[in-house]
Amino acid sequence: MIYYPLLKMKEMGIESVLIVSGREHIGDFLKLLGSGVNFGLKINYEIQEKAGGIAQALSLAQDFVGREKMAVILGDNIFEDDLSSALNSFNKSSKKAHIFLKEVDHPQSYGVPRFENERIIEIIEKPIKAPSNFAVTGCYFYTPDVFSYIRKLSPSDRGELEISDVNDYYVQSGEITYSILNKFWGDCGESLDQLMEVSKYVRKSGL
Ligand code: G1P
Repeated sequence: MIYYPLLKMKEMGIESVLIVSGREHIGDFLKLLGSGVNFGLKINYEIQEKAGGIAQALSLAQDFVGREKMAVILGDNIFEDDLSSALNSFNKSSKKAHIFLKEVDHPQSYGVPRFENERIIEIIEKPIKAPSNFAVTGCYFYTPDVFSYIRKLSPSDRGELEISDVNDYYVQSGEITYSILNKFWGDCGESLDQLMEVSKYVRKSGL
């Protein structure tokens, strides 16, 4: 599964990647991917000691990122759309965050945007009643000031530092842009059905 997010990074022209994983799995990634030489990528590793959420995992990338802008991709998300042109636009823009939305049947399982006309006015993590049919997918672009914001976050009810809280912060400060994905997107971790959907897509596309 990890191959697909890595190939997406490569497609975006990214040459150096940091994999953040728990202590129990990091060795498997190292064994499988090594330095990244077979992918034409430089792969680095960081251990997340506790399952503290995506935003907490991202905070571990601060030294790696330095003063650069960054692309974050969740290891269980499969994207068919090419995300490169959005990254090029983000690199030229003065905005501080960019997210990708996808229309889905069951938005309650994801971060969900609330719109006013075509403007996002809020992002809510796993709402009971979804304010739109869109999911915030697991690829995000940020400027390095995201790390100082993560330090101010408090854990959610599920005890995690939520990436949706990070994105909502950029919504409230008017510093976020978004794209809508038109092609296949799947989150293998969402449900068995999603995993089956992704398997079908991978088999059909011959990836
Ligand atoms: C995470 C994020 C959620 C996002 C989803 C995309 O969900 O918290 O906002 O929509 O990834 O795959 P989780 O995997 O934590 O349920």
